[in-house]
Amino acid sequence: MAGQFAIVTGASTGIGFELARLCASKGYDLLVAADEPEIEAAAEALRKEVNSIAVVALQADLATIEGVDKLYEVAQGRKVDVLMANAGRGLGHAFLDQEWARVRQVIDTNVMGTTYLLHRVGQDMRRRNEGQILITGSIAGFTPGSFQAVYNASKSYLNSLSFALREELRDTKVTVTCLMPGATETEFFARADMLDTKVGSEDKDDAAMVARKGFEAMMNGEGDVVTGLKNKIQSAVANVTPAETLAKQHRKQAEPGTAKS
Ligand SMILES: NC(=O)c1ccc[n+]([C@@H]2O[C@H](COP(=O)([O-])OP(=O)(O)OC[C@H]3O[C@@H](n4cnc5c(N)ncnc54)[C@H](OP(=O)(O)O)[C@@H]3O)[C@@H](O)[C@H]2O)c1
Repeated sequence: MAGQFAIVTGASTGIGFELARLCASKGYDLLVAADEPEIEAAAEALRKEVNSIAVVALQADLATIEGVDKLYEVAQGRKVDVLMANAGRGLGHAFLDQEWARVRQVIDTNVMGTTYLLHRVGQDMRRRNEGQILITGSIAGFTPGSFQAVYNASKSYLNSLSFALREELRDTKVTVTCLMPGATETEFFARADMLDTKVGSEDKDDAAMVARKGFEAMMNGEGDVVTGLKNKIQSAVANVTPAETLAKQHRKQAEPGTAKS
């Protein structure tokens, strides 16, 4: 993939960092972005791992129009071969107990910022009639997420957007793939204030494995990939289970105080 260029958002830690590592190992030049200064250290680690590629780090708040515009401007001059729209955040606790600013941050990052980025870069890819897009959705999008309500709704939105965009681009050479992980070992649950929950405290999937499944699915032009057998079964069952039942079950996973002792 020498000379090819990939953008990975949310690449400072977790699944995004592993996605960026995979791109690096395949020889893609990289633009990696995240909100905090740690993105510089992540970029440096990628440069050390594969010294033949160019890695540019961008610190930008992708929950804002300005942040996404900045990312787009930094990428200018390069054709984007791969876009990995991965940046996202979660938020635990009962909806009415959540701080509005944090609710809004989840919506602005996961929904608004991601949608805007896909709109900008997607138009260029369609014009060129080439490109690969990976959107990090989640199996959470199949389930009304009591005690994580806004997050699950945001992932439901992304899963849906991904399939719709894929269909609209059916007759082009632009592919859209939705990576749908289950609970994965990253900083996600601590940041979402969900360590005192069953899902936050139990064993989780490995971020490198999740990223690899997503990367492979994108390379094969597949529509989606649910990572891991347990998650595959869980999402298949969710598709035929009433929403009310799913919301009840989710409470057992995500209500504060449900952590394994
Ligand atoms: N972990 C799971 O169980 C799980 C399951 C399904 C799906 N996912 C999804 O996987 C994706 C990656 O999450 P993760 O689990 O790897 O968690 P993570 O380790 O917390 O990584 C999240 C990444 O997104 C970045 N980010 C968050 N808000 C941002 C913003 N406003 N602007 C720019 N960057 C921002 C973070 O950078 P900063 O630290 O700089 O903000 C970080 O690089 C998310 O979309 C998440 O919803 C996770």
